[in-house]
Amino acid sequence: MEQTLVIVKPDAVARGLIGEVIRRFEAEGLTVCGLKMVRLAHTEAEGFYQVHRARPFFDSLTRFMASGPCVAMVLKGEGAIGRVRTLMGATDPLQAAEGTLRRNFATSIEKNVVHGSDSTTSAAFEIPYFFNQLEIRQPAECGETPAM
Ligand code: CMP
Repeated sequence: MEQTLVIVKPDAVARGLIGEVIRRFEAEGLTVCGLKMVRLAHTEAEGFYQVHRARPFFDSLTRFMASGPCVAMVLKGEGAIGRVRTLMGATDPLQAAEGTLRRNFATSIEKNVVHGSDSTTSAAFEIPYFFNQLEIRQPAECGETPAM
């Protein structure tokens, strides 16, 4: 079982796409284990995307991520990280496969609707960036049989 951090970005929240994004993940059998709406400060967006701080798009990206509310969630399932990334599609909507969230809804490489952790290492940093332990459903409440 893997957990991954997903963000419905400000462009998608503003366009009323929260439900559609969550629906697609749930329809593929991923379980929502944590969910919240947050408005990031610019410094918080910079902290989240620190791996990209040397990139030319860093300032624009972090200002965009702080421009309005996001919806952050923890999704859980077998191979959740890869499955979420498949459902999102490539970062650039012009490269994203047919039927993916970014192909269907993204308006640019920056305003690309959704973020998902790209590795277990990223997920281990990104999940606690948004959620404390009490805010994530425990295994027995989250699609797993409790140990007897
Ligand atoms: P995300 O999956 O959240 O990871 C980093 C984000 O940076 C990415 O989605 C895009 O929103 C943004 N991004 C990546 N590449 C570029 C680029 N070339 N120009 C602008 N924004 C980018």
